Amino acid sequence: MHHPYQIRSIEQYQSDYQRSLDDPEGFWSFIADHFVWKKKWDRVLQWNFSEPRVRWFEGAQLNITKNCLDRHLSDKADQPAILWEPNDPNEAARTITYQQLHQLVCRFAQVLLNNGVKKGDRVCIYMGMVPELAIAVLACARIGAIHSVIFGGFSAQSIADRLTDAQAAYIITCDGAYRGAKDIPLKSVIDDALVGNDTVKRVIVYTRTGTAVSMISGRDVWWEEEMEKVSASCHVPAETMEAEDPLFILYTSGSTGKPKGVVHSSAGYMVWTNYTFLNVFQYQPGQIHFCTADIGWITGHSYILYGPLSAGATTLLFEGVPTWPDAGRFWDIIDKYKVNILYTAPTAIRSLMGFGNAPLEGKDLSSLQVLGTVGEPINEEAWHWYNEHIGKKRCPIVDTWWQTETGGVLISNLAGITPSKPAWATLPMPGVKPILVDDKGVPVRERDENGLLKGNLCIQSPWPSILRTTYGDHERCRQNYFATYENLYFTGDGALQDASGNFRITGRVDDVLNVSGHRIGTAEVENAINAHAGVVESAVVGFPHDIKGQGIYAYVIVSHFHQDAEHTRKDILQTVARVIGPIAKPDKIQFVSGLPKTRSGKIMRRILRKIAEGETQHLGDTSTLLDPGVVREIVEGAVE
Ligand code: WT7
Repeated sequence: MHHPYQIRSIEQYQSDYQRSLDDPEGFWSFIADHFVWKKKWDRVLQWNFSEPRVRWFEGAQLNITKNCLDRHLSDKADQPAILWEPNDPNEAARTITYQQLHQLVCRFAQVLLNNGVKKGDRVCIYMGMVPELAIAVLACARIGAIHSVIFGGFSAQSIADRLTDAQAAYIITCDGAYRGAKDIPLKSVIDDALVGNDTVKRVIVYTRTGTAVSMISGRDVWWEEEMEKVSASCHVPAETMEAEDPLFILYTSGSTGKPKGVVHSSAGYMVWTNYTFLNVFQYQPGQIHFCTADIGWITGHSYILYGPLSAGATTLLFEGVPTWPDAGRFWDIIDKYKVNILYTAPTAIRSLMGFGNAPLEGKDLSSLQVLGTVGEPINEEAWHWYNEHIGKKRCPIVDTWWQTETGGVLISNLAGITPSKPAWATLPMPGVKPILVDDKGVPVRERDENGLLKGNLCIQSPWPSILRTTYGDHERCRQNYFATYENLYFTGDGALQDASGNFRITGRVDDVLNVSGHRIGTAEVENAINAHAGVVESAVVGFPHDIKGQGIYAYVIVSHFHQDAEHTRKDILQTVARVIGPIAKPDKIQFVSGLPKTRSGKIMRRILRKIAEGETQHLGDTSTLLDPGVVREIVEGAVE
């Protein structure tokens, strides 16, 4: 059985890649023809990067849930769509077939309609990794409501900011969530986020932990009671969506200001997540796909939900964390479910590698066929450990580079089809035209002593799932991604390219940090620190961290200590956790009396980065500093 658009050889990769550039419209209309449309497109692609304005499959009408659910009912009704592994390995697991998922999504879609949710309304989802999270997301898509999932680790303040930005009137949440040894009181965080809010009309609460919650009359309702009011067999017709109607908003950090709401389209996003899922992982019917991300991040949207389900795959949803009850948890899950594809982050690999081989003993990993990584550059040591100890040297590893804004994978090898190269994402997917430019936007042509090109990674033309805008602020989208270099989408990443065309992503070149695969803006952390009473000014940089990839180093000027320095340090951490969430807490805080600034008042982060890295001697040119003396003080007080 041959899949109509799965690339099956290196020659086919080369010819498909070429064809996707020579005739993008023909290439993508061939692929799009294999989806369920209510009406097909009039034009495949219209675009310019100056506004920017990108329209894929203009004139087409569809609903992504028809493609993820209804179309599988004829031949996969009884196949598991979702396998759910609870946080506690002793609790019963759940299997949800395509038939059951279709029913549950229809039923909850009716609940949303009963509660007044309409096409185009924004629905904020703040839940743990339970099947009902998948059901909530798909039910929104079913009725054309725009979902905005917020990761369960974000604070009430972060939620409040996102609710306001998205003007969301509806929230779906849980009483609480289990994550490892912790119980997270989700509903109570929502209650804090809603103090003083008068735009949220309805909060639907799913019971997960049974913890006591406050339910505000007229606003808060229970998931279970609402579901009871709807017949189990009700059928909610899929809302007709235009190709470019927004499917969802997902907030992500940039180098300035508050997180921005990345908007993805209905048709282009569907086609790209499906195409890349099938090609990067080479998914074969019947395989079990395990992506360990949280649905609160783009990886979960694209490769737990939409990509796998649109391809009729079985996707595994894991509620817990890799190290609880012990560091063998992933390996137990792979053994238990006979997982075929494992897709995880370098930070998880490095952390599990640190536990040695004991947690692997007695675990049967022979079902594994493909391994993947995403989220940050993978170091060679971690790559080799993953290859030897998990893949037993018989599973290809795909190193997938992409971003919230790209919707799906843009650069990666194809499992078992195109070669892997440790720490290299390798080649672009068909339809993707990467280019490296210097700081002036001129394409880099000079190779270094190793024969490599080095520059800022840009993409020259749109792929189907490129972001369309940042919610409520199109100019911000233009400024952020399309204004740095004319006619190019700028990724914010630096990269190398070898003579065979392979790319190695080296990391962000802007003020965005990547901490354990979580994206955090330095400006955001600074704002949170500055919110703390007594803080005069702060500067935040990243430093290399063995497990997290990057750690957060904060230089802080305070007017006085509350009690003592240690107390103030703890208070600042508490404030950052309150304002953003625990994931943004600095690993190191150094109290300083001044920051290295140029005469025009700009902080020289280059110097601060070097000191955070442990460099004390070669700090580069400090002659333009207003007060070179502060550098000596900072070097002497640097936190190990
Ligand atoms: C940033 C995007 C893509 C989903 C998860 C992160 C970094 C991502 C790789 C990789 C090197 C990578 C980049 C990118 N990144 N994948 N395979 N190799 N770096 O999505 O939170 O939007 O972060 O993650 O720096 O810009 P995100």
